[in-house]
Amino acid sequence: MAKLSQRILNLQASPIRKLAPLADNAKKEGKKVYHLNIGQPDIHTPEVFYEAIKNFNEPVLKYSDSHGISELIDSFIKYYKKWDIHFESDEIMVTNGGSEAILFALMGVCDYGDNVLIPEPFYTNYNGFAQIAGVNVSSFLTKAEEGFHLPPKSEIVKHINDKTRAILLSNPGNPTGVVYTKEEINLIAEIAKEYDLFIIADEVYREFVYDNLEYTSFMKVTGIEKRVILIDSISKRYSACGARIGLVASKNKELIANILKLCQSRLCTPTIEQIGAAKLIDTPQEYFFEVKKEYQKRRDVVFNALKEMPGVVCQKPTGAFYVVAKLPVKDAEDFVKWLLTDFSVNNETVMLAPAAGFYSTEGLGLDEVRISYCLKCEDLEKAMNILKAGLEEYKNTKE
Ligand SMILES: Cc1ncc(COP(=O)(O)O)c(C=O)c1O
Repeated sequence: MAKLSQRILNLQASPIRKLAPLADNAKKEGKKVYHLNIGQPDIHTPEVFYEAIKNFNEPVLKYSDSHGISELIDSFIKYYKKWDIHFESDEIMVTNGGSEAILFALMGVCDYGDNVLIPEPFYTNYNGFAQIAGVNVSSFLTKAEEGFHLPPKSEIVKHINDKTRAILLSNPGNPTGVVYTKEEINLIAEIAKEYDLFIIADEVYREFVYDNLEYTSFMKVTGIEKRVILIDSISKRYSACGARIGLVASKNKELIANILKLCQSRLCTPTIEQIGAAKLIDTPQEYFFEVKKEYQKRRDVVFNALKEMPGVVCQKPTGAFYVVAKLPVKDAEDFVKWLLTDFSVNNETVMLAPAAGFYSTEGLGLDEVRISYCLKCEDLEKAMNILKAGLEEYKNTKE
């Protein structure tokens, strides 16, 4: 029998989605499952998006330009101006979500066998993109006890070697919820300059920063303009995950011109969704204000509940909509499975994401889970009560 490629066999299954069959079974048995495993917001997508799509009445649904339709690129330029970030149209490529942007950025700056340096735990799909691009991930550790802030410079640079081409990091962080301080951003910039590296700055959660913290984009640091590759997306900002519209942008025009070749090979991103996305710039500022307020409330519900659970360790996250918590169990994946197969409160249970898959170092995160707080507060309250009861019963029956 012809064999499958080692490339595909070696790919990890997403820890966010791999236990979905167990959740499906639980639902078939009539249980309600609160999904805290996935970052799918329940916030409504702004109406302007749907209006633009409803108004589309071209007789032919054509390919669009490989780099994206000009209305959309112009709307992104306008959006960044609000953040005092200034792009020109040949510095932006529209991509199939931030996902494709990450893949293209890696392919743009790394050859086969090169390394990308990432603070762990990290967005688990970075592993997949790196593998597809033939790039090795090296990582340095950030810890739950320290709110996942960066370690000292010496701990970071010891993982850099002559194969390292870029540092990739999400800010605000998925899965950690960390928002890096200006000093941390400057530290990464300093390292990039010293070791001649690119910075792949995944800022898809830029809007989700709580407690009035100051946000520093890598795009705002002077002296590294040509090194910074910005990853962005409308998925989280406008709760439009299914549109599959993102972008890769850089002041390094040569890089963007070369990424265009990758864009050309996949022809274009969806035409109608681009038309809808171009109108999102008209979303009132009020929308972001309300959404942020809502997420901060949800963060508080989850964090306050976790704080009260005996043996659970986590720091208050300040961004995105995730928290990584250390649980008083040996094997968080077994616990997550057990919650789905053997446990319920009033026929309801929760699904979490085991955190080991967010680390590249084997053996780390085994007792941790990522909790996403994308549900409304009353559901989160119920889910947290179920988690608390689950931890107690699991300890008594399984450990
Ligand atoms: C940190 C981070 N980057 C990128 C993405 C990719 O998002 P999309 O491809 O929907 O834009 C996600 C999705 O969850 C994410 O959490």
